[in-house]
Amino acid sequence: MSNFKYDLGVVGLGYVGLPLAVVSANSGLNVIGYDVSPERVKEINSGVSPIEDISDQELSKALNSFDATGEPALLSKCQHIVISVPTPLTDYQPDLSYVESAAKSVGENLVSNQVIILESTTYPGTTLEVLVPNLEKYSNLEAGSDFFVGYSPERIDPGNKEWKFKNTPKVISGINEDSLEKINAFYKKIIDQTVIVKGTREAEMVKLLENTYRHVNIALINELAMLCKMLEIDIWEVVNAAKTKPFGFQSFTPGPGVGGHCIPVDPEYLSFKTRQIGKPVRFVELAQEINNSMPAYVVSRVNELLNSKDKILRNSKILVLGVAYKKDISDMRESPALDILELLLEKNVEVSFYDPFVNELNISGQSIKKESSSNNFENYDMLLVLTPHSEFSEINFDSLQNIVFDTTGSNFIQSTERI
Ligand SMILES: NC(=O)c1ccc[n+]([C@@H]2O[C@H](COP(=O)([O-])OP(=O)(O)OC[C@H]3O[C@@H](n4cnc5c(N)ncnc54)[C@H](O)[C@@H]3O)[C@@H](O)[C@H]2O)c1
Repeated sequence: MSNFKYDLGVVGLGYVGLPLAVVSANSGLNVIGYDVSPERVKEINSGVSPIEDISDQELSKALNSFDATGEPALLSKCQHIVISVPTPLTDYQPDLSYVESAAKSVGENLVSNQVIILESTTYPGTTLEVLVPNLEKYSNLEAGSDFFVGYSPERIDPGNKEWKFKNTPKVISGINEDSLEKINAFYKKIIDQTVIVKGTREAEMVKLLENTYRHVNIALINELAMLCKMLEIDIWEVVNAAKTKPFGFQSFTPGPGVGGHCIPVDPEYLSFKTRQIGKPVRFVELAQEINNSMPAYVVSRVNELLNSKDKILRNSKILVLGVAYKKDISDMRESPALDILELLLEKNVEVSFYDPFVNELNISGQSIKKESSSNNFENYDMLLVLTPHSEFSEINFDSLQNIVFDTTGSNFIQSTERI
């Protein structure tokens, strides 16, 4: 029997931390969530979920055994602590300042027998080289004997209705056998299947492999889409046929670029690590070059399509449908839509947007007008689909007079121009 008041403390209540806290509370654990943002703490405690994957009902139910707090001292009362704070790029370099500051908050409140797990995505070595030394420095305790540490990459896929927190296998690791045993026992309470890997560096690398794999394959299909266009080959016909192969092929589809907190960012963490041994990850660099070129390619296609109808880009009126980086969520971090809108504004295009999940949008200090509903289309020269939100399936695109350019290949839009 543990003497801790809480089974779990989650540090950072965002897309990763909040679902973990809610699922854990709804699985019978006593949970607190520590976040540096007072607004976030207030919002959560009032039962309003800031993320789409957690409904207000789920959150309210969880609040019976879960509290959000801005008080780090409460972390000393938690048997397990999971750190899920941002790991962004600053000046194109991994920025571990959030992990360091979370480690300080945890370290200053660390007590014997606690189990600390890092879930933020990061380069291999972070747990051993950054987290452990900081925890030891601020606590004066020894990792592996006084307290236990490990790394477990998060695989959450915002908006995915099938693969959720509980049924997605969880890769786990520990800095030693004792740590691993305790971490495995913890996750087994809340997750159907754990996958043990032999060290924290391997576990950190798993996440980078998963996301670099996506990044590279998206770049491959984007490059092929641009080449097929020149060869007058329908890439969608090709992809749809290729994916009928039941083995040895996984389908990726072209799009306006890559977005979100993971795909554009994580490969940089990998490159950072390999540059330390003087080696670039050549696939990553090429993939970045191709994926980063997609917004400009989209704008060049917009220009061509307008010209084909005797219109020009300058002063044209374009309604962008969807600005979030992926379907059915509001997250706009690194969304290619932001780059595309910026390029369109530079060309003096009159842009508006419609996104059921996003209410306000500022590009280079300019507020972009939000169209009031997805039915006010008459005034636009072009409808430019950048995110395939499910709601757009209700629009009868085929009956519209405007040029419709679908960069997403969503199967609800049939007779339109595609990327
Ligand atoms: N969003 C995803 O789909 C996803 C998927 C897998 C992994 N990840 C990784 O998980 C980590 C977290 O990402 P996210 O999307 O949940 O971020 P997020 O921005 O949604 O949430 C992070 C939260 O941490 C809080 N925070 C920042 N510094 C803090 C500190 N020192 N102490 C306490 N709270 C702090 C912020 O206020 C915020 O509420 C990142 O490393 C990310 O790469 C994200």
